Amino acid sequence: MLGAWHLLYSYMACVLACWKITLAIRCVTMRLTQLNEEKQKLALEKLQADRSDYEPFLSKESIDIHYGKLAKGYVDRFNAGEGDSDFNRAGAFLHNIYFPQLKEPGGLNNPRGASLMLINSKHGSYDKFKSEVTKVAMSIQGSGWVYMARNGEIKTIKNHALRSDIVMLIDWWEHSWFTDYGSDKSKYLTNFWKAVDWEVVNQRILT
Ligand SMILES: [Fe+2]
Repeated sequence: MLGAWHLLYSYMACVLACWKITLAIRCVTMRLTQLNEEKQKLALEKLQADRSDYEPFLSKESIDIHYGKLAKGYVDRFNAGEGDSDFNRAGAFLHNIYFPQLKEPGGLNNPRGASLMLINSKHGSYDKFKSEVTKVAMSIQGSGWVYMARNGEIKTIKNHALRSDIVMLIDWWEHSWFTDYGSDKSKYLTNFWKAVDWEVVNQRILT
């Protein structure tokens, strides 16, 4: 009888040891993956047009500051290992979604194709969608972002964060509107719609 208990005890000890080893291997693997990701260098996505071509939505001065210094700063600091790497990675990630979706503003610039279908199905019409975006954006306290998710919902981000469901993104940090609009950030939003490249949004919805 004593032998059976001894065998059972040995078996349980073995199971526990195996579980601990498995857990340790998993932790090491996760940490190595994290370190590998942290070592990968980031790059700032290119603009669609020249910096002076975003008037009247954004002036060249505003693009120089926002894109040329602030957005680039997140990339540079991440690559140099300076500051909070998670914050800088998320800042670079979001600006790399925001800027490439902007085109030279002008003309009738309504959504079409997949983005129009998504907006109409979720919000009824483009006008209602824009009103809802404005309402949500104006309710943000402090720095953040507003975006349309892949399922058509309007969502917000406080400060910076990585998200996998962004198809259209609005930078709502003060630095994005203050240079050109002063305290009138609603006008920044009104002009934003003139510069959205809906083809880029459509590609994000469909991929
Ligand atoms: Fe920004």
